[in-house]
Amino acid sequence: MFGSRLDTDGKTRSERTKRHVNPGHSSKEETLVVGGGIIGASVALALSRRGASVRILERAEPGGLATHAAAGILGPMNETDRPGPFLDLMRQSLSLYPGFVAGLIEETGLSPDLVLDGILSVAPTPSDRAALKARHIWQRAIDPEVTFLEGAAAKELEPALTGTVDSALWYPREGHVFAPRLIKALFGALARRGVALEQGVQVVRIQPEPSGTLAVIDDTGGTRHARSVVLAAGAALSAIGIPGSPVRIHPVNGQILAVRSPGSFYRRVVFYPPHGYFVPKKDGTVVIGATEERIGGRTRVTPAGLLDFLTPLAPLAPDLLSLPLHHTWSGLRPCSEDALPVLGPLPACPNIFVAGGHYRNGILLAPVTGEILADMVTGQSSPLTTLSAPFSPGRFNGDPSKKFLTK
Ligand code: GLY
Repeated sequence: MFGSRLDTDGKTRSERTKRHVNPGHSSKEETLVVGGGIIGASVALALSRRGASVRILERAEPGGLATHAAAGILGPMNETDRPGPFLDLMRQSLSLYPGFVAGLIEETGLSPDLVLDGILSVAPTPSDRAALKARHIWQRAIDPEVTFLEGAAAKELEPALTGTVDSALWYPREGHVFAPRLIKALFGALARRGVALEQGVQVVRIQPEPSGTLAVIDDTGGTRHARSVVLAAGAALSAIGIPGSPVRIHPVNGQILAVRSPGSFYRRVVFYPPHGYFVPKKDGTVVIGATEERIGGRTRVTPAGLLDFLTPLAPLAPDLLSLPLHHTWSGLRPCSEDALPVLGPLPACPNIFVAGGHYRNGILLAPVTGEILADMVTGQSSPLTTLSAPFSPGRFNGDPSKKFLTK
């Protein structure tokens, strides 16, 4: 999620902080990654591991407010209502997570608190049961470990469920990660590798040059040149002018909160209808979310928004609502015109690569996106680039009537 706008922070351009970590020297041979959130950082790391020269341009804080706003859920099965390429992509990324995190710990000593001890998706009442059973039928054909549980068995798995639970689906190998620690570990690994990070750089335009390189122009008129560019600017991606780009990304505000529990008493991620979830973190907080609001590029937290997901939680896990409120916040999810990720080169300019539109699943999809984009930028084809073919930016070409779909 993307949670602040540099152009509304009240500072003039020259007042903005420009911090250069490992500034190095700009080179026409390098790849510029525009956006230092979880996606940009993961792509930069994968590129660096392949020996590519890479530099990140970030307009605010690395990992910013977007990645920091995420609940960190790694739960493919709740993020789509059908089998297909999107589920395959999410499951592939989940399978990469243990190695992705182990690599970061090895390089930095920083743990992002990866927990893969299962997710529950609950049906609070008998009227929710049929939908859950229908989901079980198609999901168990993909993963035989997906299990239908009666309410009592679900309550045994998650002590917060002291209220009414009819039944649940159990995904034993899904889980969550602590997104702020993950981005810290990623930037730790990038710094150790000498990957350049330039902060306070707001890219406004990218222009192909006659020589085949790209001019990357910032809001002060500064120009950097690169062999290739990866666009990983989250909800701000559409604000960058690129000739002939068919990609539009829409910001979707998510309100979210955390309560503080007395110990590590609660354990599992739980999804509940119509679109709520809670995520017990290792630090004793329980993150509860989230709204989906299409209100332009604004972020906001409102009592009505919080009620949206707290009201259906009350009969299910009433104890959570008595815990001290720790924090509320909001961020912007980056949503494409079909609500699916956009991965790959722009048809009109094949050395500009999009890594965007991750919407509700930026944290989950970070490892696979990093590998896919690194393969593409370095000109390799692999099973992962094949997996990503349906997500090509080219799917938006020539179809101006394509609607902004909600999932
Ligand atoms: N991944 C959960 C959300 O976007 O709210």
